[in-house]
Amino acid sequence: MSNHSARRINTLLDAMSKPTRYLEIGVETGQTFFEVSAAFKTAVDPKFIFDLEEAREKDPTSEYHQVTSDNYFQEHGESKQFDLVFLDGLHTWDQTYRDFCNSLLITHERSVIVLDDIFPSDVFSCNRDQLEGVMMRQFMTGSPSNAWHGDTYKVIPLIQAFHPTLSYCTIISDGNPQALVWRSTHLPESDFGIVMEDGGLNLASLDYLWFLRNQSNYNLMNESDAIATVITSLGSAHV
Ligand SMILES: C[S@@+](CC[C@H](N)C(=O)[O-])C[C@H]1O[C@@H](n2cnc3c(N)ncnc32)[C@H](O)[C@@H]1O
Repeated sequence: MSNHSARRINTLLDAMSKPTRYLEIGVETGQTFFEVSAAFKTAVDPKFIFDLEEAREKDPTSEYHQVTSDNYFQEHGESKQFDLVFLDGLHTWDQTYRDFCNSLLITHERSVIVLDDIFPSDVFSCNRDQLEGVMMRQFMTGSPSNAWHGDTYKVIPLIQAFHPTLSYCTIISDGNPQALVWRSTHLPESDFGIVMEDGGLNLASLDYLWFLRNQSNYNLMNESDAIATVITSLGSAHV
């Protein structure tokens, strides 16, 4: 397997009851999607960067929806029970959190949601505006990197604050960081503190310095420990 996302997703799917159903939001060239092994796969992206007709012919069991995630969930939001959802669409906290909440409606007690881009690589990568972030990095540091994670990192403290029946961990080895989220009564010990102040949501305070100070609250793990934790937790879930 050539990419870290497909490797992690396939390891999780391998441990699930068959036949498995997989949804990917934000698919681009299909680098991950085409490498995922699941009985039924659904791809959502407003602009696929591959020959759609050819892909449909090659694998008639897969579905391709060339629409935004909002449109997809609006039309198909309650029709399928996916075992694994990979969220890798628009990298802003509000879009990703909306995708996440919608994913909860089409998943079940033993499903896993994989979140990309929750760990910005520098202050420029967490600019909500991709072009501005990349240009500022080039201007300030001379780096030609086009790394962009947006402010998706804010979704993890939101999950911690608003979803007390969900557990999560963040893989930080063997490829780009990604979070795994699943239903569990054993929650990670974390204290994001200032997310909720006097009962109000204080999103404005979640800047890049906040992220640096709070990294350990993302429940950081190496890849094999993270996947083993999820599989063990789901294996012992009473449903
Ligand atoms: C980083 S790429 C996805 C990469 C892919 N998941 C992979 O692993 O190969 C992000 C994709 O999100 C798509 N995207 C942007 N806005 C979106 C939206 N509102 N809904 C769904 N996808 C979106 C973009 O078109 C782009 O193809």
